[in-house]
Amino acid sequence: MRKNIVVGNWKMNLKREESLELVSAVLSKLPEDKNTEVVFAPSFLYLYKIAKLCSDFERVKVSAQNCSKEGKGAFTGEISSEMIESSNGDYVIIGHSERREFFKETNADLVQKINMALANNLKVIFCCGERLNQREESTHFDWVKQQINESLFHLSVADFNNIVIAYEPIWAIGTGITATSEQAQEMHGFIRTIISEKFGNEIAENTSILYGGSCNPNNAKDLFTQKDIDGGLIGGASLNADDFLAIIHSF
Ligand code: PGA
Repeated sequence: MRKNIVVGNWKMNLKREESLELVSAVLSKLPEDKNTEVVFAPSFLYLYKIAKLCSDFERVKVSAQNCSKEGKGAFTGEISSEMIESSNGDYVIIGHSERREFFKETNADLVQKINMALANNLKVIFCCGERLNQREESTHFDWVKQQINESLFHLSVADFNNIVIAYEPIWAIGTGITATSEQAQEMHGFIRTIISEKFGNEIAENTSILYGGSCNPNNAKDLFTQKDIDGGLIGGASLNADDFLAIIHSF
């Protein structure tokens, strides 16, 4: 059975005290009767401390927002997967559109990062998604297929079990425009089909596929009740405890 997962991607937001307060506020009101996994993706600086705060909550995990494609060495300013694992991180987000756009990360870079993360026992939240013009030109399915194919389909079945996919149409990220639940379901169903073609039906059925892009308390239920949408990668709305909790409660 695949997991429902709600991830808060804080991006480059929140000072230390604000971060700790937000985590405490969410933890104090987590629904007890739900199995949804909750993941905080804070700045690297607070990851270890936040992992400690979450350690009593079995279904609460911590994610880094990025990792180096290198293992170790003379790469000033970089953070390795080994460092994230040794700071009690569980996941790392790889392939976010902001990293692809602002830091020019290619599918080939992502392969190196994914391999490094998996080799250091991290799970990967792999982001994919099209630009608005690609959707308008109806090339969005081919594009997402290529992203997944070039970054994930070299993996073994055992490694692929540690991949969570986040479909994030770029035109919906931080814009207040959400994909309709039908548009999102259509792409999620497509992603599950291509996973099934590559790794078989059982693996495809067990893969959690999250939606990201202006997900908020008003639209989360509509999205999460779609049959191939297993949760969300939440940016802006994860910075507010009540909004993030409302999204977690939407299952
Ligand atoms: P958003 O960001 O919820 O603010 O649109 C989502 C993301 O980029 O992960």
